[in-house]
Amino acid sequence: MSAFTIAIDGKQVKVSPGQTVLQAARHIGLDIPTLCHLEKCGPLTTCQVCLVKLAANGQSRLVPSCATQVVPGMVIESETEEVHEARRTALELLFSDHVGDCLSPCNRLCPLQLNIPAMIRQIEAGRLDEAITTMRQALPLAGVLGRLCHHPCEQGCRRGDFDEPAAIREMERFLAEHDFKQDSRQSRACLSERPASGKQSVVVVGAGPAGLAAAHDLARHGHAVTVIDRNAKPGGRLRDVPEGELPAAVLEEELALLAGMGIIFKTGIELGNQVSLNGLRLGFDAILVTVGELAEGDGGKLGLPLAGATLKADPSTCRVEPPNVFAAGACVKPVRQLVRAMAEGRAAAECVHQYLLGQTPRRPGKPFSSIMGRLEPGELREFLRAASQEDSVSPCARCSGINRDEALREAARCLHCDCRSSGNCVLQHYAQVYGADANRFRAERRPFEQQLQRHGVIFEPGKCILCGICVKLTEMAADPLSLTFIGRGFDVRVAAPFDRPIEEGLRRVAEDCVRHCPTGALVFADEIKVVAAH
Ligand code: SF4
Ligand code: SF4
Ligand code: SF4
Ligand code: FES
Repeated sequence: MSAFTIAIDGKQVKVSPGQTVLQAARHIGLDIPTLCHLEKCGPLTTCQVCLVKLAANGQSRLVPSCATQVVPGMVIESETEEVHEARRTALELLFSDHVGDCLSPCNRLCPLQLNIPAMIRQIEAGRLDEAITTMRQALPLAGVLGRLCHHPCEQGCRRGDFDEPAAIREMERFLAEHDFKQDSRQSRACLSERPASGKQSVVVVGAGPAGLAAAHDLARHGHAVTVIDRNAKPGGRLRDVPEGELPAAVLEEELALLAGMGIIFKTGIELGNQVSLNGLRLGFDAILVTVGELAEGDGGKLGLPLAGATLKADPSTCRVEPPNVFAAGACVKPVRQLVRAMAEGRAAAECVHQYLLGQTPRRPGKPFSSIMGRLEPGELREFLRAASQEDSVSPCARCSGINRDEALREAARCLHCDCRSSGNCVLQHYAQVYGADANRFRAERRPFEQQLQRHGVIFEPGKCILCGICVKLTEMAADPLSLTFIGRGFDVRVAAPFDRPIEEGLRRVAEDCVRHCPTGALVFADEIKVVAAH
Protein backbone atom coordinates (compact mmCIF):
# COMPACT_ATOMS: atom_id res chain seq x y z
CA MET A 1 0.00 0.00 0.00
CA SER A 2 1.32 3.42 -0.79
CA ALA A 3 1.14 6.55 1.37
CA PHE A 4 -2.30 7.77 2.46
CA THR A 5 -3.71 10.41 4.76
CA ILE A 6 -5.30 10.40 8.18
CA ALA A 7 -6.86 13.30 10.10
CA ILE A 8 -5.29 14.44 13.38
CA ASP A 9 -7.14 17.25 15.13
CA GLY A 10 -8.78 18.14 11.81
CA LYS A 11 -5.48 18.30 9.94
CA GLN A 12 -4.77 15.95 7.01
CA VAL A 13 -1.48 14.16 7.65
CA LYS A 14 0.34 12.07 5.05
CA VAL A 15 1.46 8.72 6.51
CA SER A 16 3.00 5.45 5.36
CA PRO A 17 1.57 2.02 6.07
CA GLY A 18 3.03 0.44 9.22
CA GLN A 19 3.48 3.79 10.99
CA THR A 20 1.96 4.33 14.41
CA VAL A 21 -0.37 7.20 15.28
CA LEU A 22 2.36 8.39 17.67
CA GLN A 23 4.90 8.62 14.84
CA ALA A 24 2.41 10.47 12.63
CA ALA A 25 1.52 12.91 15.43
CA ARG A 26 5.16 13.57 16.29
CA HIS A 27 5.84 14.15 12.61
CA ILE A 28 3.52 17.19 12.70
CA GLY A 29 5.09 18.41 15.93
CA LEU A 30 2.58 17.21 18.53
CA ASP A 31 4.15 16.45 21.91
CA ILE A 32 2.23 13.34 22.93
CA PRO A 33 3.56 12.16 26.31
CA THR A 34 5.10 8.68 26.45
CA LEU A 35 6.72 6.88 29.35
CA CYS A 36 6.95 3.21 28.33
CA HIS A 37 7.77 3.90 24.70
CA LEU A 38 11.24 3.28 23.30
CA GLU A 39 11.29 2.74 19.55
CA LYS A 40 13.65 -0.24 19.65
CA CYS A 41 11.59 -2.08 22.29
CA GLY A 42 8.31 -2.08 20.36
CA PRO A 43 5.00 -1.31 22.09
CA LEU A 44 4.91 -2.18 25.80
CA THR A 45 1.63 -0.32 26.53
CA THR A 46 2.10 -0.27 30.29
CA CYS A 47 1.80 3.45 31.04
CA GLN A 48 -1.28 4.52 29.03
CA VAL A 49 -0.28 8.18 28.99
CA CYS A 50 0.02 8.40 25.19
CA LEU A 51 -3.75 8.14 24.71
CA VAL A 52 -5.53 9.63 21.71
CA LYS A 53 -9.18 9.43 20.71
CA LEU A 54 -9.96 7.30 17.69
CA ALA A 55 -13.24 7.81 15.86
CA ALA A 56 -14.42 4.91 13.70
CA ASN A 57 -17.81 3.65 12.52
CA GLY A 58 -19.70 6.34 14.40
CA GLN A 59 -18.02 5.34 17.68
CA SER A 60 -15.00 6.70 19.44
CA ARG A 61 -12.59 5.31 22.02
CA LEU A 62 -9.29 6.13 23.66
CA VAL A 63 -6.34 4.11 22.40
CA PRO A 64 -2.59 4.17 23.11
CA SER A 65 -1.04 6.01 20.17
CA CYS A 66 2.27 4.14 20.52
CA ALA A 67 0.62 0.83 19.71
CA THR A 68 -2.02 1.91 17.18
CA GLN A 69 -1.14 1.61 13.52
CA VAL A 70 -2.47 4.11 11.01
CA VAL A 71 -5.19 2.99 8.57
CA PRO A 72 -6.62 4.99 5.65
CA GLY A 73 -9.27 7.53 6.60
CA MET A 74 -8.49 7.33 10.32
CA VAL A 75 -9.78 10.27 12.43
CA ILE A 76 -7.76 11.07 15.54
CA GLU A 77 -8.16 13.64 18.30
CA SER A 78 -5.08 14.51 20.31
CA GLU A 79 -5.01 18.04 21.73
CA THR A 80 -8.53 18.25 23.14
CA GLU A 81 -9.52 18.80 26.78
CA GLU A 82 -11.07 15.30 26.91
CA VAL A 83 -7.88 13.57 25.74
CA HIS A 84 -5.73 15.76 27.98
CA GLU A 85 -7.89 14.83 30.95
CA ALA A 86 -7.42 11.11 30.15
CA ARG A 87 -3.65 11.56 29.95
CA ARG A 88 -3.66 13.57 33.19
CA THR A 89 -5.56 10.77 34.93
CA ALA A 90 -3.09 8.17 33.62
CA LEU A 91 -0.23 10.26 35.03
CA GLU A 92 -2.00 10.72 38.36
CA LEU A 93 -2.55 6.98 38.66
CA LEU A 94 1.19 6.45 38.31
CA PHE A 95 1.68 8.63 41.40
CA SER A 96 -0.79 6.66 43.52
CA ASP A 97 2.06 4.69 45.11
CA HIS A 98 5.05 6.75 44.02
CA VAL A 99 7.69 7.10 46.74
CA GLY A 100 9.78 10.17 46.11
CA ASP A 101 10.20 13.90 46.44
CA CYS A 102 11.04 15.51 43.09
CA LEU A 103 12.02 18.65 45.00
CA SER A 104 13.45 18.62 48.52
CA PRO A 105 11.26 20.03 51.33
CA CYS A 106 13.61 23.02 51.73
CA ASN A 107 13.40 23.83 48.02
CA ARG A 108 9.60 23.66 48.09
CA LEU A 109 9.49 26.04 51.07
CA CYS A 110 11.80 28.66 49.58
CA PRO A 111 9.50 31.36 48.14
CA LEU A 112 12.19 32.01 45.50
CA GLN A 113 12.57 28.28 44.78
CA LEU A 114 16.31 28.05 45.24
CA ASN A 115 17.58 24.55 44.40
CA ILE A 116 19.15 24.23 47.84
CA PRO A 117 20.43 20.62 47.66
CA ALA A 118 22.17 21.35 44.32
CA MET A 119 23.85 24.41 45.85
CA ILE A 120 24.86 22.39 48.90
CA ARG A 121 26.38 19.58 46.79
CA GLN A 122 28.47 22.18 44.99
CA ILE A 123 29.66 23.65 48.31
CA GLU A 124 30.44 20.19 49.65
CA ALA A 125 32.54 19.44 46.58
CA GLY A 126 34.36 22.77 47.02
CA ARG A 127 32.96 24.03 43.70
CA LEU A 128 32.12 27.41 45.16
CA ASP A 129 31.80 29.29 41.88
CA GLU A 130 29.14 26.82 40.74
CA ALA A 131 27.36 27.17 44.08
CA ILE A 132 27.39 30.97 43.66
CA THR A 133 25.86 30.57 40.20
CA THR A 134 23.12 28.25 41.51
CA MET A 135 22.35 30.73 44.27
CA ARG A 136 22.41 33.80 42.03
CA GLN A 137 20.13 32.12 39.47
CA ALA A 138 17.35 32.03 42.05
CA LEU A 139 18.05 34.79 44.57
CA PRO A 140 18.03 38.47 43.68
CA LEU A 141 20.12 40.36 46.29
CA ALA A 142 21.55 37.07 47.59
CA GLY A 143 23.93 38.84 49.98
CA VAL A 144 20.99 40.63 51.62
CA LEU A 145 18.88 37.46 51.85
CA GLY A 146 21.85 35.59 53.33
CA ARG A 147 21.59 37.97 56.29
CA LEU A 148 17.95 38.94 56.60
CA CYS A 149 15.82 36.11 55.21
CA HIS A 150 13.57 34.51 57.83
CA HIS A 151 14.65 31.19 56.25
CA PRO A 152 11.37 29.24 55.95
CA CYS A 153 13.44 26.60 54.10
CA GLU A 154 15.15 25.60 57.35
CA GLN A 155 11.82 25.06 59.09
CA GLY A 156 11.11 22.20 56.70
CA CYS A 157 14.65 20.84 56.59
CA ARG A 158 14.59 17.08 57.01
CA ARG A 159 17.87 17.09 58.93
CA GLY A 160 15.92 18.95 61.62
CA ASP A 161 13.90 15.75 62.24
CA PHE A 162 17.15 14.19 63.46
CA ASP A 163 19.05 17.07 65.13
CA GLU A 164 19.43 20.63 63.78
CA PRO A 165 18.36 21.80 60.32
CA ALA A 166 21.14 22.57 57.85
CA ALA A 167 22.26 26.20 58.20
CA ILE A 168 21.05 27.11 54.71
CA ARG A 169 20.89 30.86 55.11
CA GLU A 170 24.40 30.96 56.57
CA MET A 171 25.72 29.02 53.59
CA GLU A 172 24.19 31.66 51.32
CA ARG A 173 25.75 34.46 53.33
CA PHE A 174 29.09 32.67 53.20
CA LEU A 175 28.89 32.33 49.39
CA ALA A 176 27.99 35.99 48.92
CA GLU A 177 30.81 37.13 51.24
CA HIS A 178 33.30 34.76 49.66
CA ASP A 179 32.50 36.22 46.23
CA PHE A 180 32.49 39.75 47.58
CA LYS A 181 36.10 39.15 48.68
CA GLN A 182 37.01 38.17 45.12
CA ASP A 183 35.41 41.37 43.79
CA SER A 184 32.10 39.59 43.06
CA ARG A 185 33.80 38.02 40.04
CA GLN A 186 31.52 35.00 39.82
CA SER A 187 28.31 36.89 40.61
CA ARG A 188 29.02 39.40 37.87
CA ALA A 189 29.88 36.67 35.41
CA CYS A 190 26.71 34.65 35.99
CA LEU A 191 24.41 37.69 36.14
CA SER A 192 25.67 38.90 32.78
CA GLU A 193 24.41 35.74 31.04
CA ARG A 194 21.06 36.57 29.51
CA PRO A 195 19.36 36.66 26.12
CA ALA A 196 20.27 39.78 24.18
CA SER A 197 17.41 39.84 21.71
CA GLY A 198 13.80 40.98 22.00
CA LYS A 199 14.71 43.92 24.21
CA GLN A 200 11.70 45.87 25.40
CA SER A 201 11.70 48.67 27.92
CA VAL A 202 10.19 48.42 31.38
CA VAL A 203 10.07 50.98 34.16
CA VAL A 204 9.84 49.73 37.73
CA VAL A 205 8.42 52.35 40.06
CA GLY A 206 9.82 51.82 43.56
CA ALA A 207 13.25 50.42 44.46
CA GLY A 208 12.26 48.38 47.53
CA PRO A 209 12.69 44.58 47.79
CA ALA A 210 9.78 43.70 45.42
CA GLY A 211 10.86 46.26 42.81
CA LEU A 212 14.53 45.28 42.94
CA ALA A 213 13.68 41.57 42.62
CA ALA A 214 11.42 42.32 39.64
CA ALA A 215 14.05 44.54 38.01
CA HIS A 216 16.62 41.75 38.44
CA ASP A 217 14.34 39.16 36.79
CA LEU A 218 13.27 41.45 33.94
CA ALA A 219 16.90 42.28 33.19
CA ARG A 220 17.71 38.56 33.20
CA HIS A 221 14.97 38.09 30.62
CA GLY A 222 16.87 40.54 28.43
CA HIS A 223 14.65 43.61 28.81
CA ALA A 224 15.92 47.16 29.24
CA VAL A 225 15.01 48.11 32.82
CA THR A 226 14.85 51.50 34.50
CA VAL A 227 14.04 51.76 38.20
CA ILE A 228 12.76 55.05 39.59
CA ASP A 229 12.38 55.84 43.29
CA ARG A 230 11.21 58.88 45.20
CA ASN A 231 14.01 58.58 47.76
CA ALA A 232 17.57 59.75 47.29
CA LYS A 233 18.90 56.17 47.25
CA PRO A 234 17.43 52.85 46.10
CA GLY A 235 16.70 50.11 48.66
CA GLY A 236 13.34 51.10 50.20
CA ARG A 237 12.89 49.64 53.67
CA LEU A 238 16.27 47.87 53.43
CA ARG A 239 17.74 51.30 54.22
CA ASP A 240 16.08 51.16 57.65
CA VAL A 241 17.82 47.92 58.73
CA PRO A 242 20.48 48.54 61.43
CA GLU A 243 24.11 48.37 60.24
CA GLY A 244 24.76 45.36 62.51
CA GLU A 245 22.15 43.31 60.66
CA LEU A 246 22.77 44.62 57.16
CA PRO A 247 25.96 46.61 56.62
CA ALA A 248 25.42 49.41 54.10
CA ALA A 249 28.38 48.05 52.10
CA VAL A 250 26.51 44.77 51.47
CA LEU A 251 23.45 46.58 50.11
CA GLU A 252 25.66 48.85 47.98
CA GLU A 253 27.46 45.83 46.53
CA GLU A 254 24.17 44.15 45.63
CA LEU A 255 22.89 47.37 44.01
CA ALA A 256 26.16 47.63 42.09
CA LEU A 257 25.58 44.10 40.77
CA LEU A 258 22.12 45.14 39.55
CA ALA A 259 23.58 48.24 37.90
CA GLY A 260 26.20 45.95 36.33
CA MET A 261 23.34 44.04 34.69
CA GLY A 262 22.40 47.24 32.86
CA ILE A 263 19.58 48.31 35.19
CA ILE A 264 19.36 52.12 35.27
CA PHE A 265 18.49 53.73 38.62
CA LYS A 266 16.88 57.20 38.73
CA THR A 267 16.26 58.48 42.23
CA GLY A 268 14.40 61.48 43.62
CA ILE A 269 11.56 60.89 41.15
CA GLU A 270 8.06 60.29 42.47
CA LEU A 271 5.17 58.98 40.41
CA GLY A 272 2.42 61.60 40.55
CA ASN A 273 4.91 64.38 41.25
CA GLN A 274 7.95 64.59 38.99
CA VAL A 275 6.45 62.11 36.54
CA SER A 276 2.94 61.04 35.56
CA LEU A 277 1.59 57.64 34.61
CA ASN A 278 0.85 58.86 31.09
CA GLY A 279 4.37 60.21 30.79
CA LEU A 280 5.76 56.80 31.71
CA ARG A 281 3.38 55.05 29.31
CA LEU A 282 4.76 57.11 26.47
CA GLY A 283 8.34 56.26 27.32
CA PHE A 284 8.17 52.55 28.22
CA ASP A 285 6.55 49.36 26.89
CA ALA A 286 5.42 48.30 30.36
CA ILE A 287 5.21 49.78 33.86
CA LEU A 288 5.49 47.86 37.11
CA VAL A 289 4.40 49.72 40.23
CA THR A 290 6.05 48.52 43.47
CA VAL A 291 5.83 51.64 45.59
CA GLY A 292 5.31 49.86 48.93
CA GLU A 293 2.55 50.61 51.40
CA LEU A 294 0.37 53.51 50.22
CA ALA A 295 0.13 56.55 52.45
CA GLU A 296 -3.15 58.44 52.62
CA GLY A 297 -3.66 60.40 49.41
CA ASP A 298 -1.06 58.33 47.48
CA GLY A 299 -3.76 56.44 45.56
CA GLY A 300 -5.19 59.49 43.82
CA LYS A 301 -1.72 60.83 43.07
CA LEU A 302 -0.66 57.65 41.26
CA GLY A 303 -3.68 57.79 38.95
CA LEU A 304 -4.44 54.09 39.44
CA PRO A 305 -7.64 52.33 40.58
CA LEU A 306 -7.84 51.51 44.29
CA ALA A 307 -9.48 48.76 46.33
CA GLY A 308 -9.61 50.16 49.86
CA ALA A 309 -6.11 51.18 50.92
CA THR A 310 -4.30 49.25 48.19
CA LEU A 311 -4.06 49.21 44.41
CA LYS A 312 -6.63 47.13 42.60
CA ALA A 313 -4.60 44.50 40.76
CA ASP A 314 -5.83 41.21 39.28
CA PRO A 315 -4.21 38.52 41.50
CA SER A 316 -3.81 36.08 38.61
CA THR A 317 -2.12 38.54 36.22
CA CYS A 318 -0.73 41.27 38.55
CA ARG A 319 -2.38 43.72 36.16
CA VAL A 320 -3.99 47.05 36.96
CA GLU A 321 -5.80 49.22 34.45
CA PRO A 322 -4.53 50.39 31.90
CA PRO A 323 -3.30 47.14 30.27
CA ASN A 324 0.46 47.69 30.22
CA VAL A 325 0.54 48.59 33.91
CA PHE A 326 1.26 45.97 36.58
CA ALA A 327 1.63 46.21 40.35
CA ALA A 328 3.13 44.08 43.11
CA GLY A 329 4.29 44.11 46.71
CA ALA A 330 2.87 45.99 49.68
CA CYS A 331 0.94 48.49 47.48
CA VAL A 332 -1.24 45.51 46.43
CA LYS A 333 -1.30 43.37 49.55
CA PRO A 334 0.60 43.61 52.81
CA VAL A 335 3.80 41.50 52.75
CA ARG A 336 5.92 41.48 55.85
CA GLN A 337 8.77 39.13 55.06
CA LEU A 338 11.55 40.21 52.77
CA VAL A 339 11.75 36.97 50.81
CA ARG A 340 7.99 36.95 50.22
CA ALA A 341 8.06 40.55 48.98
CA MET A 342 10.77 39.50 46.53
CA ALA A 343 8.71 36.51 45.42
CA GLU A 344 5.79 38.87 44.73
CA GLY A 345 8.12 41.03 42.65
CA ARG A 346 9.23 37.93 40.77
CA ALA A 347 5.65 36.82 40.02
CA ALA A 348 4.82 40.27 38.65
CA ALA A 349 8.03 40.33 36.58
CA GLU A 350 6.97 37.02 35.02
CA CYS A 351 3.58 38.51 34.08
CA VAL A 352 5.24 41.62 32.61
CA HIS A 353 7.62 39.40 30.64
CA GLN A 354 4.75 37.35 29.20
CA TYR A 355 2.95 40.56 28.26
CA LEU A 356 6.06 41.86 26.49
CA LEU A 357 6.29 38.58 24.55
CA GLY A 358 2.71 39.14 23.35
CA GLN A 359 1.35 36.32 25.54
CA THR A 360 -1.52 36.46 28.01
CA PRO A 361 0.03 37.17 31.42
CA ARG A 362 -0.51 34.47 34.03
CA ARG A 363 1.06 34.39 37.47
CA PRO A 364 3.30 31.29 37.54
CA GLY A 365 2.06 28.36 39.63
CA LYS A 366 4.13 26.21 41.93
CA PRO A 367 6.51 23.79 40.25
CA PHE A 368 5.29 20.19 40.26
CA SER A 369 6.66 17.85 42.90
CA SER A 370 5.70 14.43 44.12
CA ILE A 371 5.74 14.63 47.92
CA MET A 372 6.70 11.75 50.15
CA GLY A 373 5.57 13.38 53.39
CA ARG A 374 6.87 12.62 56.85
CA LEU A 375 9.45 9.85 57.10
CA GLU A 376 9.28 6.89 59.44
CA PRO A 377 12.36 6.57 61.70
CA GLY A 378 13.71 3.68 59.60
CA GLU A 379 13.37 5.74 56.44
CA LEU A 380 15.15 8.69 58.03
CA ARG A 381 18.05 6.34 58.79
CA GLU A 382 18.28 5.53 55.05
CA PHE A 383 18.67 9.25 54.35
CA LEU A 384 21.22 9.70 57.13
CA ARG A 385 23.46 6.89 55.87
CA ALA A 386 25.49 9.08 53.53
CA ALA A 387 25.46 12.29 55.61
CA SER A 388 27.98 13.58 58.15
CA GLN A 389 26.98 12.85 61.75
CA GLU A 390 28.52 16.11 63.00
CA ASP A 391 26.51 18.71 64.88
CA SER A 392 25.52 21.91 63.17
CA VAL A 393 27.61 25.08 63.58
CA SER A 394 27.02 26.89 66.87
CA PRO A 395 24.27 29.53 67.13
CA CYS A 396 27.07 32.03 67.72
CA ALA A 397 28.74 31.16 64.40
CA ARG A 398 25.35 31.30 62.74
CA CYS A 399 24.86 34.93 63.63
CA SER A 400 28.41 36.12 63.00
CA GLY A 401 28.74 34.33 59.66
CA ILE A 402 30.43 31.02 58.90
CA ASN A 403 33.80 30.47 57.24
CA ARG A 404 34.72 28.15 54.39
CA ASP A 405 35.50 25.12 56.59
CA GLU A 406 32.28 25.55 58.52
CA ALA A 407 30.32 25.90 55.29
CA LEU A 408 31.84 22.69 53.91
CA ARG A 409 31.17 20.83 57.17
CA GLU A 410 27.60 22.11 57.26
CA ALA A 411 27.08 21.09 53.63
CA ALA A 412 28.15 17.52 54.49
CA ARG A 413 25.23 17.29 56.94
CA CYS A 414 22.62 17.67 54.17
CA LEU A 415 20.54 14.57 53.44
CA HIS A 416 19.99 15.39 49.75
CA CYS A 417 16.27 14.91 49.97
CA ASP A 418 15.62 15.78 46.31
CA CYS A 419 15.31 13.15 43.62
CA ARG A 420 18.50 12.81 41.63
CA SER A 421 16.42 12.61 38.46
CA SER A 422 14.60 15.87 39.08
CA GLY A 423 14.86 18.01 35.96
CA ASN A 424 15.57 14.93 33.81
CA CYS A 425 12.56 12.82 34.75
CA VAL A 426 9.98 12.24 32.02
CA LEU A 427 7.24 11.50 34.55
CA GLN A 428 7.88 14.78 36.40
CA HIS A 429 8.07 16.71 33.12
CA TYR A 430 4.68 15.57 31.84
CA ALA A 431 3.09 15.85 35.27
CA GLN A 432 4.08 19.53 35.19
CA VAL A 433 2.94 20.04 31.59
CA TYR A 434 -0.45 18.39 32.25
CA GLY A 435 -0.99 19.99 35.65
CA ALA A 436 -1.28 16.56 37.29
CA ASP A 437 -2.18 16.33 40.97
CA ALA A 438 0.20 13.76 42.47
CA ASN A 439 -2.13 13.23 45.42
CA ARG A 440 -5.38 12.61 43.55
CA PHE A 441 -5.25 8.83 43.85
CA ARG A 442 -2.64 8.64 46.60
CA ALA A 443 -2.91 5.40 48.55
CA GLU A 444 -0.88 4.44 51.60
CA ARG A 445 2.66 4.58 50.38
CA ARG A 446 5.30 1.90 50.37
CA PRO A 447 8.36 2.48 52.56
CA PHE A 448 11.24 4.43 51.00
CA GLU A 449 13.90 2.00 49.85
CA GLN A 450 17.18 2.62 48.11
CA GLN A 451 19.33 -0.24 46.84
CA LEU A 452 22.93 0.83 46.29
CA GLN A 453 24.63 -1.64 43.96
CA ARG A 454 28.36 -2.33 43.90
CA HIS A 455 28.91 -1.03 40.39
CA GLY A 456 27.33 2.32 41.00
CA VAL A 457 23.70 1.74 40.04
CA ILE A 458 21.03 2.90 42.48
CA PHE A 459 17.59 1.32 42.31
CA GLU A 460 14.66 2.95 44.10
CA PRO A 461 11.71 0.56 43.70
CA GLY A 462 9.26 3.21 44.96
CA LYS A 463 9.93 5.31 41.85
CA CYS A 464 9.55 2.43 39.39
CA ILE A 465 6.39 2.72 37.30
CA LEU A 466 6.81 -0.81 35.90
CA CYS A 467 7.15 0.55 32.38
CA GLY A 468 9.06 -2.56 31.33
CA ILE A 469 11.80 -0.79 29.37
CA CYS A 470 14.69 -2.16 31.45
CA VAL A 471 13.17 -5.65 31.40
CA LYS A 472 12.89 -5.52 27.61
CA LEU A 473 16.38 -4.07 27.12
CA THR A 474 18.05 -6.78 29.21
CA GLU A 475 16.03 -9.43 27.41
CA MET A 476 17.03 -8.03 24.00
CA ALA A 477 20.71 -7.91 25.04
CA ALA A 478 20.46 -11.56 26.10
CA ASP A 479 22.05 -10.73 29.45
CA PRO A 480 22.75 -14.00 31.22
CA LEU A 481 20.38 -12.94 33.99
CA SER A 482 17.84 -10.54 32.44
CA LEU A 483 15.60 -8.46 34.65
CA THR A 484 12.06 -9.61 35.12
CA PHE A 485 8.81 -8.70 36.84
CA ILE A 486 8.25 -10.67 40.03
CA GLY A 487 5.23 -10.83 42.37
CA ARG A 488 1.54 -10.38 41.70
CA GLY A 489 -1.07 -7.64 41.71
CA PHE A 490 0.05 -4.60 43.71
CA ASP A 491 3.28 -6.31 44.72
CA VAL A 492 4.78 -6.61 41.25
CA ARG A 493 8.32 -5.27 41.05
CA VAL A 494 11.33 -5.32 38.79
CA ALA A 495 14.07 -7.65 39.96
CA ALA A 496 16.82 -9.97 38.84
CA PRO A 497 15.79 -13.61 39.07
CA PHE A 498 16.90 -15.87 41.94
CA ASP A 499 17.10 -12.97 44.41
CA ARG A 500 20.27 -11.71 42.77
CA PRO A 501 21.09 -7.96 43.02
CA ILE A 502 19.49 -5.93 40.27
CA GLU A 503 22.78 -4.95 38.66
CA GLU A 504 23.51 -8.61 37.90
CA GLY A 505 20.43 -8.50 35.74
CA LEU A 506 21.53 -5.46 33.79
CA ARG A 507 25.23 -6.02 33.32
CA ARG A 508 25.55 -5.45 29.58
CA VAL A 509 22.98 -2.74 29.24
CA ALA A 510 23.17 -0.93 32.57
CA GLU A 511 23.92 2.39 30.94
CA ASP A 512 21.12 2.00 28.40
CA CYS A 513 18.63 1.07 31.14
CA VAL A 514 19.61 3.99 33.36
CA ARG A 515 19.44 6.37 30.41
CA HIS A 516 16.03 5.20 29.27
CA CYS A 517 14.38 4.69 32.65
CA PRO A 518 11.65 7.38 32.47
CA THR A 519 11.84 8.11 36.22
CA GLY A 520 14.45 8.23 38.97
CA ALA A 521 14.07 4.50 39.68
CA LEU A 522 17.41 3.63 38.07
CA VAL A 523 20.29 6.09 38.32
CA PHE A 524 24.05 6.03 38.63
CA ALA A 525 25.25 6.82 42.15
CA ASP A 526 27.73 9.45 41.00
CA GLU A 527 24.84 11.44 39.54
CA ILE A 528 23.94 12.33 43.13
CA LYS A 529 26.61 14.96 42.97
CA VAL A 530 26.08 16.25 39.48
CA VAL A 531 22.36 16.89 39.13
CA ALA A 532 22.40 20.46 37.94
CA ALA A 533 20.30 23.41 39.04
CA HIS A 534 17.09 23.58 37.05
S1 SF4 B 1 11.27 9.85 39.84
FE1 SF4 B 1 10.56 11.69 38.79
S2 SF4 B 1 8.50 11.95 39.54
FE2 SF4 B 1 9.52 10.56 40.94
S3 SF4 B 1 10.37 11.84 42.58
FE3 SF4 B 1 11.95 11.61 41.02
S4 SF4 B 1 11.74 13.41 39.69
FE4 SF4 B 1 9.83 13.18 40.86
S1 SF4 C 1 18.63 17.93 54.54
FE1 SF4 C 1 19.40 19.15 52.80
S2 SF4 C 1 18.03 18.69 51.06
FE2 SF4 C 1 17.05 17.93 52.94
S3 SF4 C 1 15.66 19.55 53.54
FE3 SF4 C 1 17.60 19.90 54.65
S4 SF4 C 1 18.88 21.23 53.36
FE4 SF4 C 1 17.16 20.46 52.13
S1 SF4 D 1 13.22 0.60 36.71
FE1 SF4 D 1 12.74 -0.30 34.73
S2 SF4 D 1 10.56 -0.78 34.80
FE2 SF4 D 1 10.97 0.65 36.47
S3 SF4 D 1 10.56 2.66 35.61
FE3 SF4 D 1 12.75 2.30 35.32
S4 SF4 D 1 12.95 1.36 33.27
FE4 SF4 D 1 10.78 1.26 33.89
S1 FES E 1 1.26 3.11 26.51
FE1 FES E 1 2.07 4.31 24.90
S2 FES E 1 3.81 5.20 25.78
FE2 FES E 1 3.09 3.95 27.38
